[in-house]
Amino acid sequence: MDPVDVLIIGSGIAAMQTALTASKTKHVILITKSELRESNSYLAQGGIACAIANDDKPELHKIDTVCAGRHYNNRLAVDKLVNEGPVVMQELMHTGMEFDCNEHGVPLLGLEGAHSQRRILHRQGDATGKHLMEHYLKRLAKSSVHVMEHTAAIELILGEDDSCMGAKTMSKQGKISSIYANAVVLATGGCGSLFRFTSNSPTVSGDGIALAFKAGARIRDMEFIQFHPTLLYIKGKTVGLVSEAVRGEGAELVTESGKRIMNDVHRQKELAPRHIVAQTIYSYLKNGEQVYLDISMISDFKKKFPTIAALCENNGLDLTKARIPIAPGNHFLMGGIEVDEWGKTSVQGLYAVGEVACTGVHGANRLASNSLLEGLVFGKSLGKHLIEAPKRVWPAEKKQTKRVVTQLALPNLTELQANIMNDAGIVRNQANLSRLLSWLESFDLEALLDVDVTKLSLRELDKIHAIIVSWLIAYSALERTESRGGHFRTDYPLENNENWREESVVLDHHLAI
Ligand code: SIN
Repeated sequence: MDPVDVLIIGSGIAAMQTALTASKTKHVILITKSELRESNSYLAQGGIACAIANDDKPELHKIDTVCAGRHYNNRLAVDKLVNEGPVVMQELMHTGMEFDCNEHGVPLLGLEGAHSQRRILHRQGDATGKHLMEHYLKRLAKSSVHVMEHTAAIELILGEDDSCMGAKTMSKQGKISSIYANAVVLATGGCGSLFRFTSNSPTVSGDGIALAFKAGARIRDMEFIQFHPTLLYIKGKTVGLVSEAVRGEGAELVTESGKRIMNDVHRQKELAPRHIVAQTIYSYLKNGEQVYLDISMISDFKKKFPTIAALCENNGLDLTKARIPIAPGNHFLMGGIEVDEWGKTSVQGLYAVGEVACTGVHGANRLASNSLLEGLVFGKSLGKHLIEAPKRVWPAEKKQTKRVVTQLALPNLTELQANIMNDAGIVRNQANLSRLLSWLESFDLEALLDVDVTKLSLRELDKIHAIIVSWLIAYSALERTESRGGHFRTDYPLENNENWREESVVLDHHLAI
């Protein structure tokens, strides 16, 4: 098969934006292991942060982004996000995307944690992601992008010069194919579903990071994981997100007896940065005290938050009691595949965009509602870059001898999710992280990195990717001997600006072999 111009792996907003932009002049194939509507972008509730209000400025959005990121952000990437954000949003509205507005057509802007002012554009209250993705799906259907659902990327194809030439794929029925491409874009999202408690779609399992790592790409900042404070918590399980916008409308975090838990913790109370709210809730849950969102002060809750109201009622909650039981869980990965501001990874021909990529824009903790904006801004710039990229000199394919393993020892995914939540979750320390690392290494990482993937099932591949990504998280979290943003260690509870503010934990696969 002749190489296509661009192969995109994933189906969230970053994948769509890159695909639609590049397809203006390039032949683009987009593959997803599940279906087009299955993504974190589709589930996004809060909205899209953007400095469009008369009294707002990109500079103020930048300050909030860098404060939430604990001054670890890549300033160039932040400048790009906040300055190009308003332009991209105007373009989006010109293509027909609508946001909630008042009777004069002025957008109603929401407030979320760590924002100094209202700047969140939303649609139908809390259904922003769904409307945004439906808008993009309509545009995709009219474009020249060739879409293949139920097609999982199982390995990146490398040339003799170690550049990326395409991907091996597996269909739902187990059929293996190869797609060669001038540029391969990973847009597979983060790794939320590896954790027992998560707001993420079950398909967001870190596979893009594992594929890139196996192909030799540099991976960084994997210790920085954002735990969202408020996931709906029913019968010991988290079952979906309760947007921060609910706290933005005044909801309070209380114990069973009605005590407000954030009053003495932070001046912004319920709207303090997410890691602080998540850690506070966690400390109550650990002591056996359930925490609730008291929503009694929000008039028309069901009208303002129809998605959340339906989620609560479908899980048997009586909203007339105005109390929603919550627990924190994995929400977003700030680290990922190291890329420059155009999305180029350290492997030629391989790009990454959206949550799977690490531009450094979010620093150590992402500001609320900056993720859809990231996909829109960086997806557009990557799409444009791919349009302008010259055709590559096509290398010969690298011949690789892979291990054929007849019996692989692999963990049960439920056990892995519990172990990583417990040992590399909201609160970490050396003993727990070391225990997790040793447990992961007991699965013979070297063999897993080298195994012949065409002989495995998708389920086995999922487990291998889960082990690799969990190992990257545990290793990085152990290396960073300080607390910062989403990474909190009881044995190093403070930020250490002298040693760590400018320092990244970067990994490549030579370390694991
Ligand atoms: C939320 O609605 O609370 C999530 C928004 C985000 O993660 O940016």
